[in-house]
Amino acid sequence: SNLKTLEYIKYEVQENQVALVTLNRPKALNALCDGLINELNSTLEQLNKDPKVGAIVITGSEKAFAAGADIKEMKDKTFPYTYSVNMLASWDNLTTIKKPIIAAVNGYALGGGCELAMMCDIIVAGTSAKFGQPEILIGTIPGCGGTQRLTRAIGKSKAMELVLTGDQIDAHTAEKHGLVSKVVEPTETVNEAVKIAAKIASLSQPIVAMAKEAVNQAHNLPLKDGLQYEKRLFHSTFATQDRKEGMTAFAEKRKPQWKNE
Ligand code: CAA
Repeated sequence: SNLKTLEYIKYEVQENQVALVTLNRPKALNALCDGLINELNSTLEQLNKDPKVGAIVITGSEKAFAAGADIKEMKDKTFPYTYSVNMLASWDNLTTIKKPIIAAVNGYALGGGCELAMMCDIIVAGTSAKFGQPEILIGTIPGCGGTQRLTRAIGKSKAMELVLTGDQIDAHTAEKHGLVSKVVEPTETVNEAVKIAAKIASLSQPIVAMAKEAVNQAHNLPLKDGLQYEKRLFHSTFATQDRKEGMTAFAEKRKPQWKNE
């Protein structure tokens, strides 16, 4: 197979144009050390450019998607250091990837692990998944979107509860509050995420990228500007061959042949 194994992650590009990326630092419950984030970022950038990849799934282990930033790596850092290097800034690189990314979460998704999942476009959770922002319990606060993306995802009251107590919520609670799109048996989490990713990967890549970009603007822009952004991207689909093919195929009662153009 084409499985590639790096120090902290492994990944493969499947026949169905889905890239499956597995965080692979089991002894530390996939704690997100600098090395892991660097490998993840460079892998995602490479997969983003690979025409054989239509969508990406990120998963961890049965026990942990990721138990957060690496506390041991952080513990002796000082303010001047964290400020001058803008610590954690490169974590956001994931959000610049144009291809859809699905998080398949089993076990712990805590702190930076929950934040990483929330940077993905869709979260599929196994019933064993546990989400939380426990930073408060170690004397700090979330630093990679836990106060912002979580609040937008589940609302202020529930987000406050999680961020201020450090308590965890299970997969069904996460689904009830809109954090995850689906809950399945833990043995099915990756399969389900790959199934969704394969469906997306079978569609037109540029159109999928525009759809992702438009949905993301709902979090970045006021409604009026978001609607304008959507409208312009909708108009832009008319500059593609795939838009023409999709509508023509519908009218001719046949399946569209996407060219990614
Ligand atoms: N950083 C570094 N090492 C970690 C880690 C982390 N976030 N989480 C787990 N580990 C290590 C443990 O130290 C332990 O290593 P040793 O075997 O060398 O002792 C190993 O992984 C296994 O962990 P446990 O023995 O603790 O496993 P457990 O089943 O008893 O508990 C757990 C699991 C509840 C997830 C517990 O490990 C835990 O509380 N982890 C820390 C969670 C946390 O606070 N995350 C937030 C980090 S801060 C952050 O993420 C900031 C941000 O916004 C980016």
